[in-house]
Amino acid sequence: MTSPQTAERTDAPAPRAGARDSKPGVWGGAPLGSEWWRTAVIYQIYPRSFADSSGDGIGDLPGITSRLDDLRDLGIDAIWLSPFQRSPQKDAGYDVSDYCDVDPLFGTLSDFDLMLGAAHERGIRVIVDLVPNHSSDQHEWFQQALAAAPGSRERARYMFRDGKGVEGEVPPNNWESVFGGPAWTRVVEADGTPGQWYLHLFDSSQPDFDWSNDEVREEFRRILRFWLDRGVDGFRVDVAHGLVKAAGLPDYTPDPDAGSMGGEEADVPYWGQDGVHEVYRDWHLLMAEYEGDRALCAEAWMPTPEKTALWVRPDEMHQAFNFAYLETAWDAPALRAVIAESIAAYAAVGAPSTWVLSNHDVVRHASRLALTAENPQGHGIGPDSPGKPIPEVGLRRARAATTLMLALPGSAYLYQGEELGLPEVIDIPGDARQDPTWFRTNGERYGRDGCRVPIPWTADAPAYGFSPTGDAWLPQPAEWAHLARDVQAGDDDSTLSLYRALIAARRERGLGAGALEWLEGFGTDVVAFRNGDVTVIGNTGATAIALPDGIVIAASGPISSGELPADTTVWLAND
Ligand code: NOJ
Repeated sequence: MTSPQTAERTDAPAPRAGARDSKPGVWGGAPLGSEWWRTAVIYQIYPRSFADSSGDGIGDLPGITSRLDDLRDLGIDAIWLSPFQRSPQKDAGYDVSDYCDVDPLFGTLSDFDLMLGAAHERGIRVIVDLVPNHSSDQHEWFQQALAAAPGSRERARYMFRDGKGVEGEVPPNNWESVFGGPAWTRVVEADGTPGQWYLHLFDSSQPDFDWSNDEVREEFRRILRFWLDRGVDGFRVDVAHGLVKAAGLPDYTPDPDAGSMGGEEADVPYWGQDGVHEVYRDWHLLMAEYEGDRALCAEAWMPTPEKTALWVRPDEMHQAFNFAYLETAWDAPALRAVIAESIAAYAAVGAPSTWVLSNHDVVRHASRLALTAENPQGHGIGPDSPGKPIPEVGLRRARAATTLMLALPGSAYLYQGEELGLPEVIDIPGDARQDPTWFRTNGERYGRDGCRVPIPWTADAPAYGFSPTGDAWLPQPAEWAHLARDVQAGDDDSTLSLYRALIAARRERGLGAGALEWLEGFGTDVVAFRNGDVTVIGNTGATAIALPDGIVIAASGPISSGELPADTTVWLAND
């Protein structure tokens, strides 16, 4: 294996003035006006688990600011922050009670501005999460709706309906919450009688907005402008496939094996309705008023790349997460198919494909890729799950999978901690779990806490350097010291060094803007392609294969005597 090198960043980023008067400059490898998002490596920060400066056990914005140099050294182009807006934290911030303020847990608006400025100074763009499908039940509008009468303007901002049955005691339809249990909750009216029901596709603390209401549309334009005027570079749009529901709200029974976020099935009356695209056409025009290629990325769990590509037609969003890729096993034929299908589907609408292997909703890929077929990973894994992954196999495959992904043309998303090779934390005790999925299913589904454990920075510090007091909102495993960033930084063979080398070589060789040409003749278990002057070969099989001649640019594991071992990917320089 070659020693990974870190490329010198030669670009000279300039701080951005907040709003529409921003000056052209050069940013993280791509000049303004270059549609940076087409090729960017974007690093997801899950703020509560990234870095805690206050010592309360929950990460915060000053913590992020203090760690930006580490991210610059990793070589990423942008960060995406999961929600830090004001929220009762019933769903870790995806239940927003004030879209234009920072939750005191994470700091203040000035902490946000400082973080944004510091990121921009380092050439790192900043994308924030926007949660338009639902608010918190503590949002001013929902509280007003509860206090108001059926049929009022206040109720019309959400999806209130009368129940069925003689006394309205049966929910308006049979929809189930993504987190388990019914998707409807009945309210008590002002006079104390049982009243209407409201829709919540997620937790009962997350009532769905009614996007057929112009007041809702106008409010979200205001929210977009609030953050754009502060200088953010874009938004990751939560549940971007869910805003519009089918007329008449027809009954629907989901597939019990669908993944954690739903939406993998066809023709669901609350996912991917045609009307949702109007919202993004409107936002596209709004974003275009601002300089600097501000971007929208759709979190739309649709069944195929072709369907997901509808979100990135030229007048809609700029990127969409490629969940079909994330859900593909470590299996060469399946990988070849999804890569080819993705590139074709997104190119057909003029958009780049994105690539992603982990995020805060799925089992970390250093564990997921070693799960066995009998273990449905869609709902999390825990102490009683069958077929637990073997850590060494998982890490080997994760490194190989990332080495493959970072060679693909388009934009790639990384999730905090994957650059350290963090596995899913399986042994979280029930009383420490916090995901609403765990509570709404009475512990039947473990949910997502295992991928959200605060990350380790320093082997010998309290909470591995995550917080100065040693507190952490989810328990960190005792064996994480060897995965801490400071240990890995000095080790050429570490996962961190591999990520740095891959990102640097990807930038240097322009792989994000490249094109893929398949290579044949390596056998069924191999994914092989050329992108520009790099040949990429990934072996998903159980036995080593012969390697062609070539200078090794990077490899996910040790290579010797002209052979590529099982579960290993290599980048070779073409002659
Ligand atoms: C998708 C987010 O990624 C997830 O964490 C959240 O629970 C749901 N949307 C609801 O907002």
